[in-house]
Amino acid sequence: MLRASGRRLGAAVAPAVALAAALLSSLARCSLLGPSDPVASVLSPYFGTKTRYEDVNPGLVLDPEAPRRDPELLEGTCTPVQLVALIRHGTRYPTAKQIRKLRQLHGLLQARGRGSAGGRDLGAALADWPLGYADWMDGQLVEKGRQDMRQLALRLASLFPALFSRENYGRLRLLTSSKHRCVDSGAAFLQGLWQHYHPGLPPPDVADMECGPPRINDKLMRFFDHCEKFLTEVERNATALYHVEAFKTGPEMQNILKKVAATLQVPVNDLNADLIQVAFFTCSFDLAIKGVKSPWCDVFDIDDARVLEYLNDLKQYWKRGHGYTINSRSSCTLFQDIFQHLDKAVEQKQRSQPISSPVILQFGHAETLLPLLSLMGYFKDKEPLTAYNYKEQMHRKFRSGHIVPYASNLIFVLYHCENAKTPKEQFQVQMLLNEKVLPLAHSQETVSLYEDLKNYYKDILQGCQNSEECELPKVNSTSDEL
Ligand SMILES: *[C@@H]1O[C@H](CO)[C@@H](O)[C@H](O)[C@H]1NC(C)=O
Ligand SMILES: *[C@@H]1O[C@H](CO)[C@@H](O)[C@H](O)[C@H]1NC(C)=O
Repeated sequence: MLRASGRRLGAAVAPAVALAAALLSSLARCSLLGPSDPVASVLSPYFGTKTRYEDVNPGLVLDPEAPRRDPELLEGTCTPVQLVALIRHGTRYPTAKQIRKLRQLHGLLQARGRGSAGGRDLGAALADWPLGYADWMDGQLVEKGRQDMRQLALRLASLFPALFSRENYGRLRLLTSSKHRCVDSGAAFLQGLWQHYHPGLPPPDVADMECGPPRINDKLMRFFDHCEKFLTEVERNATALYHVEAFKTGPEMQNILKKVAATLQVPVNDLNADLIQVAFFTCSFDLAIKGVKSPWCDVFDIDDARVLEYLNDLKQYWKRGHGYTINSRSSCTLFQDIFQHLDKAVEQKQRSQPISSPVILQFGHAETLLPLLSLMGYFKDKEPLTAYNYKEQMHRKFRSGHIVPYASNLIFVLYHCENAKTPKEQFQVQMLLNEKVLPLAHSQETVSLYEDLKNYYKDILQGCQNSEECELPKVNSTSDEL
């Protein structure tokens, strides 16, 4: 268990040690912790977008509410004046589509009869393992997901006490995607803040909170649904995900198919890559949602998990990442919106006015964060991820599980620095991804002058208009007009 976690972290030995310490310490407190005992799987590092937040932030296992201050965060003469956070919803149920596939696979195992091995083989154990997922759950936020949000709120409030002050509570601005899991995430976040201000008091309904419930804005948080060019060229285009389909039938996946068919004693022709993938996801869902290590995890070893992680990443890469330019360009309204908030705060500060929105919280999806990070130039590998370079991409930057686990968050912090030599140096910015400072793409530094950051992204800030980027190439309609 611990060894595998260390392997996931690769060269980053320190976090692995921290995780080990955290686990040991938690185990020592077992009787106190009860149901939140840490359960880990050697497969955890490979769950892609279904990764638990604490698997990328191992210190949280020990104390999920203690603020973990990245030592690179500015302090002293620079004070944070505004925070804009993009937050992926917390842990969720499988979608109805995933549940249907799981039911199909489960049915297959139940129909297969007892294994020829005679005893209790894995196939039989799985046939007897209750599914535990029903159609109504369809991607909704689970209790663990609410907890993800409450704990994130508590940590951020402790990390930025001046921004999350009691006085600012009524000025919090919350936006959300219309999906239930995001609306509910926003509400849970607010309840976490309530807990921060009024420890011990039960939180009121979000509708009765000072700042009101999160407002729905799909144009910003689900920009991908509103970009015609993206919808036509990628989302509804059967060939756009060519590499995903090719990888499903490629040698790496075929290998797993044969292995799993043998393990479960079902005909290989009854299985396909989608069913294999749903079995793998079920291991992740049982772990993230129920905190149990289910027998579905025993179907796979680490090499299988690496291949299945790649399959998941391939899809994210071609649909949300650097695969097609439109994937990231479609997020430029959101990018511009963030800088409009920052601009306004700078202006207000310059005029010695109070900041009207010191904290802006926006709840969305992995599909909201990945295009934005791609637009900003992050996690770009030299070579594209394809169906044919699995081995070469073993050490790729684009690993969605490290970037957008459940409850992942990208935070822009605007600082005002008192001792600045020039007016330009008064305003500085840091970015945090999952509560760790993200070096800036243009300098690799952990902090940037606000002006320099804007200058680096001026093409996107000035030259990217969603209305134009998302417009489909004009068909020459001259002949129609005749
Ligand atoms: C679909 O995707 C393929 C591969 O990127 C591309 O060549 C083709 O033009 C796309 N089709 C449409 C309708 O955009
Ligand atoms: C459309 O067709 C007309 C006549 O053939 C031509 O002059 C014009 O340049 C074309 N426009 C585009 C956008 O291709």
